[in-house]
Amino acid sequence: MRRYMITSALPYANGPIHIGHLAGAYLPADIFTRFLRLKGEDVIHICGTDEHGVAITLRAVQEGISPKELVDKYHERIKSDFEKFGISFDHFSRTSTPLHHRNAQNFFLKLHDKGYLYKRSMKQYYDPKMGRFLPDRYVVGTCPYCGYEDAKGDQCERCGRQIEPGELKDPRSALSGEPVILKDTVHWFFKLSDLKEPLREYVSSKDWKPFVKEFALSWIEELRDRAITRDLEWGVPVPLDDPDAKGKVLYVWFDAPIGYISATMEWASQVKGDPDAWKPYWMDPETVLVHFIGKDNIVFHTVIWPAMLYAHGDYILPTDVPANAFLNLQGRKLSTSKGYAIWADELVESVGQDIARYAVALYIPEKNDSDFNVREAFTRTNAELVDNFGNFAQRVLSFINRYMDGRVPEPKTLTEEDERLLKLLRETAKRYEELMLRYEIRLALREAVNLGAEANRYYEHQAPWKLRKGDPDRASTVLYVAFQILRGLSAMFYPYVPASVRRLWGYMNVSPESFSDLTTPNPDLAGHPIGRSEPLYRKVDEDKIRQWEEELRRRAEGREPESKGAEPRIGYEDFAKVKLRVAKVLSAERIPKTDKLLKLTIDLGDERRTLVAGLGHVYEPEDLVGKSIVVVANLQPKKLRGVLSDGMLLAAHDEEGKPVILTVEREVPPGSEVS
Ligand code: 2FM
Ligand code: ZN
Repeated sequence: MRRYMITSALPYANGPIHIGHLAGAYLPADIFTRFLRLKGEDVIHICGTDEHGVAITLRAVQEGISPKELVDKYHERIKSDFEKFGISFDHFSRTSTPLHHRNAQNFFLKLHDKGYLYKRSMKQYYDPKMGRFLPDRYVVGTCPYCGYEDAKGDQCERCGRQIEPGELKDPRSALSGEPVILKDTVHWFFKLSDLKEPLREYVSSKDWKPFVKEFALSWIEELRDRAITRDLEWGVPVPLDDPDAKGKVLYVWFDAPIGYISATMEWASQVKGDPDAWKPYWMDPETVLVHFIGKDNIVFHTVIWPAMLYAHGDYILPTDVPANAFLNLQGRKLSTSKGYAIWADELVESVGQDIARYAVALYIPEKNDSDFNVREAFTRTNAELVDNFGNFAQRVLSFINRYMDGRVPEPKTLTEEDERLLKLLRETAKRYEELMLRYEIRLALREAVNLGAEANRYYEHQAPWKLRKGDPDRASTVLYVAFQILRGLSAMFYPYVPASVRRLWGYMNVSPESFSDLTTPNPDLAGHPIGRSEPLYRKVDEDKIRQWEEELRRRAEGREPESKGAEPRIGYEDFAKVKLRVAKVLSAERIPKTDKLLKLTIDLGDERRTLVAGLGHVYEPEDLVGKSIVVVANLQPKKLRGVLSDGMLLAAHDEEGKPVILTVEREVPPGSEVS
């Protein structure tokens, strides 16, 4: 068993979570962690909100609230966004806690005592109107190189040149628009230039994604000392008894990664009830420390943070930093401030947690930027998750339930084809595992999907429903093999769609054993009793896809949402055309060769009628007999699977789209009108 310490970038507490965040760090981290947990490794996944820095204070000004009110609000919102998306952190903390402030200050003091920090006076832009120092990127002016008039203080967007403080002509504040001045201020600098050699050696020894490693190495060559304090009210105060330290806080990028350690300490005492339990995760060189981040965070996690850890001396250095590129949406850049995004919570509300996770997982930008196109994402999810995996599960389990007494049958003679499939399961699981451990999350999913497709072809080709009467032994063997494959598939799909696979394990009556158990065919399963099953997923329909497309066009153009009241109303005359009546169910039976259809005979007071209803996956026929239901009595009759259905029963649909029939609150005679 190996010990893993997994972190996901601490999101700034200044806005909700959208699919770009999820694809960039949190979903791949969650998939990876869930896989490791299923493998039986010792793993914790830690995160929390990043609550300091200028971005927070500016957003608070925009929202007209204090920074504290802002971070409290978004801490709760972000935490709930992650829960809705099924991101299973072992602990989710925040950087404004007293424990974290103490840790960050102690970290600073340790570097200070070890001689890694020094104080230096420097000139920095100051906005006299707002009475505050400004980070370079909040200053605009004319580029000294190309004359571009809207160049930012740190870099010119037109010619791409780096700009040093003081070089910009006619500098103005991006906040107030007023001219800014250069003012003297004192800051503490981290002697990064001293650490070039050990950092180069450290990064060179790593087997990281090529773009991450190259980026880190090129940065190390340019490494200069950096100020790690700021003139700001909000943040972790500089812990020195020095008049120059007054009004200064630690730079947010200095304190934030220390937040990973603080959050692990909080986990140890609050979750584990053992205040020392965090230590092996951060101090034992055997621990695999992995930081999941987006590409804009690479330099901080591959150079500066390792430098901090190295200088501090008590902690291990990151083993891997599987950074991701960016996710675009319908070909455009996502933007929280412009409101152009799909938010985590609304996506889950719209299509459910697992469809949402699957659709986003398809586009994790592992190597390059990728584009989330709603039509393509949902069409692929419908095909790969619903039709391929979900459908296979439903076919196998309902066949066993209906024709095999609800027990996995005893296999008779295994044919070459059966053996081939079982072998394919083991080989696929091996490749899947190797890919996962290399953070090739999309390719690992391909392995699972390909095996699912192969399993469907096998089942279709063997056609056990045809063998059932003429060659029952063969039918038994096919179902036995199919069940073994399904069990293996469940393990491979689990990290991506955990909630539905947990449901599936319930239907299969298997406990979530280890990855290797689940993907190894187990002869003891012959005779294993299973439970009743229901479809795992519902497809995203064309209407919903169109709605999303329209909504995203609207967001891209910054148009206001259509008002809800715009939905066309109908007059009473229209409603009165529908004759609703109460009916009593006299008998019910399954329609052969269908999964869901039931044939009901109902009493409508003055007549008896036959009705076909798609309820068989949720209700047993006998549960319906004697119930008073509500039917549309004047619908044109329609033939369904050879049975004439004369009327339609009304049902509500629950969160998973399963029907729940309408009944009356008190018994009334059959035939009573409903209006
Ligand atoms: O880019 C961001 O959203 C930062 N808040 C990430 C911080 S990661 C870590 F260092 F805490
Ligand atoms: Zn320029």
